[in-house]
Amino acid sequence: MNHEFECIIVGSGGAGLYSALETSAGAKTAVLSKLHPVRSHTGAAQGGISAALGNCEPDEPEWHAFDTVKGGDYLVDQKAAMILAQDAVKAVYDLENRGLPFSRTPDGKIDQRRFGGHTREFGKGPVHRACYAADRTGHMILQTLYQQCIKNKVSFFDEFHVIDVILEGNTCKGVVAIELATGVIHTFSSKAVLFATGGFGRIFKVTSNAFANTGDGPAVLARKGIPLQDMEFFQFHPTGIKGLGILITEAVRGEGGILRNREGQAFMETYAPTLLDLAPRDMVSRAIMTEIQGGRGMRGDKKIDDYVNLDATHLGKEVLLSKLPDITDFCKTYLGVDPADNPIPVLPTAHYAMGGIPTDLDGRVLADEKGTPVEGLYAAGECACVSVHGANRLGTNSLLDLVVFGRRAGIHISNYVKTNGAHVLPATAADYARAWVDRLTDGKSGPHGPELSEQMQSVMMEKVGVYRNATQMSEAVKTMEALVKSYEDVRVQDRGKPFNTDLLETIELKNMLDLALVTAVSALARQESRGAHSREDFPDRDDDNWLKHTLAFLDKDRVRLDFKRVDTSIWDPKPRTY
Ligand code: FUM
Repeated sequence: MNHEFECIIVGSGGAGLYSALETSAGAKTAVLSKLHPVRSHTGAAQGGISAALGNCEPDEPEWHAFDTVKGGDYLVDQKAAMILAQDAVKAVYDLENRGLPFSRTPDGKIDQRRFGGHTREFGKGPVHRACYAADRTGHMILQTLYQQCIKNKVSFFDEFHVIDVILEGNTCKGVVAIELATGVIHTFSSKAVLFATGGFGRIFKVTSNAFANTGDGPAVLARKGIPLQDMEFFQFHPTGIKGLGILITEAVRGEGGILRNREGQAFMETYAPTLLDLAPRDMVSRAIMTEIQGGRGMRGDKKIDDYVNLDATHLGKEVLLSKLPDITDFCKTYLGVDPADNPIPVLPTAHYAMGGIPTDLDGRVLADEKGTPVEGLYAAGECACVSVHGANRLGTNSLLDLVVFGRRAGIHISNYVKTNGAHVLPATAADYARAWVDRLTDGKSGPHGPELSEQMQSVMMEKVGVYRNATQMSEAVKTMEALVKSYEDVRVQDRGKPFNTDLLETIELKNMLDLALVTAVSALARQESRGAHSREDFPDRDDDNWLKHTLAFLDKDRVRLDFKRVDTSIWDPKPRTY
C-alpha cells in the first residue's frame, strides 16, 4: 500500500512533533511512530528544559552557550551551541504560549532550578536555568505538542514501524514501514523525510531508556551508507536506581540533594570543589565509580554493582511532593523507600547518545566529512548530531535540542517542499523490507533474538561503560561483529501477522546490534579521554590528535572511520575544572 505526503516525520517525541507543527502549517504532513505518540520517550524526561530567562537571578544566553561547550569537553560545534542557547528563550516562551503548565515563581513567572554544569558568568557558580514542570517536564512537552499537532491536522500513523528508507542517488524519496496491527508493509513517498527516532540506550544492560529506544533511525540510515558521528560518546547519568537503571532526576541534586559514600561523606567535594554535586554528568558518574572502586560504596566490596546514596532527606516532604512528586513515587514503588525518610541507592545508568546522524544547523543530514547534504533528508533530536553536546551533554539541554532543532528543521522543510516536486517510488521500493521480514518468518530454525540481545547488553555495559580500555573494547568489538553475523540466522518464533511483537523486537535487535558495533569500534579508535569517553589507558584529553569528530560508515559487519573538524570559532579549548 502506498501513501503520498509532502513531509514524513519518523518518530513522535519532542523533535518530531515540533517539526510537524512547523511543516503542517503549509505542507501535507504525516508522523509515523511505532508507539502511540504520547508514549514517546520524551515523556520520561524529568528535570527541566534550559533557557537563560533570568527569572530567578541574572543569566545570559552566552553563559549558557559557554557552559554547553565546556560541558561537552570542547567537542561541541560552537556556533550550533550559540544558536541553541539563543533560541532557547523563544522556544520556552513558545511552549508556554502553546499551553505548557510550567511550575511558577511566587510572582507568576516560569520557575527555574539549578542543574549540573549550568553556571553564571562563565563558571563562577551554579545558576537557576532549568525551566520545569515539577519532575514531569518532558511529559508536559509531549502532551502540549501532541495537542497542537492534532489541532494542525497532522496525519498520525500510530504503531507503524519504519524499517527502510528510499534513497536514490543523493535524494531521499520516502520510507517503508510495517503496520503492527496487520503486519502489512506500507510505502510512503514524500518530498522530505525527517528522522526523529530518539536514542538507543537499550544497547546497554542498565539504562534509563524505554524499551522502544533501539536506535531505529540511525541504524536504518547507516545501512544505506549515511555516516554516524561521535558514536563513542554515550552518557551515563549518575543517578539511576541501583540495579534497575530507572532515572532519578538530577533535579534532586538541583534542589539540594547530596551524594554520599559509605562514610556519609559528600564525596563530590573531592572531585568538583566549586560545583560539587552539580558538576557535569560525566564527572559525577566517574566520581561514583571511583568511590566504589576505592571500597567506599555502600557495601564496600568494590564491585561494579555496588552503589552510593543520594540523600534528599533534608529537603523535607513538602519540597519533595511539590517539586519531585514522580521521583517520590518511583522510590516508593520500586524501592519501598520514601526519599523524605531514607536515602536513595543509586548507580550510573546508560542515558543518552551524544552521537548520531550528522546534520547541519537546519537538520539536513550530511553524507560525508565535507558536509554534503542529502536532498530531502533531515534528522533532529537525540538520533541526530548537530553537534551541540560534543563529548558530554549537560542536563536539560536535551529537551532544548529537541524543540530548537526540531523547529529549525521544520522551517527548512516547509521551504524545501515548496520548491521541489513529488517523487514516484520505484516498484522495488519495499523489496528490501519484504525480504527481511520473509527471512525472519520463514519457519527455519535459528538462534532466537533475546539470546543475542542479552549478550550485547552485558558486553556493552561491562566493556564500553563509564571507564574503558583497549583490551575490553577490543573484546566488545569482536563480540559485536560475531553477533551481527549470527543475526543472519536469527528467526522469530511467532510467524503470525497481527501485533507480532516477536518480529518487531527482532527487527529492533538488528538496529541495536549495528549501533553497538559502531559504538564499540568508534570508542576503541579514540585514544584519549574526553567527556563521557574515559579511557584508563589514555587518561588525558589530547587536543593535538583528537579534537575532531568521528564519522563511522557501516558496511555490513565492518566499520570504516573518517573524521571531521570541530567548530572552535568562539572559545579556545581549555582544561575543564569545576
Ligand atoms: O536528570 C534529569 O532530569 C534528566 C534530564 C536530562 O537528561 O536532560
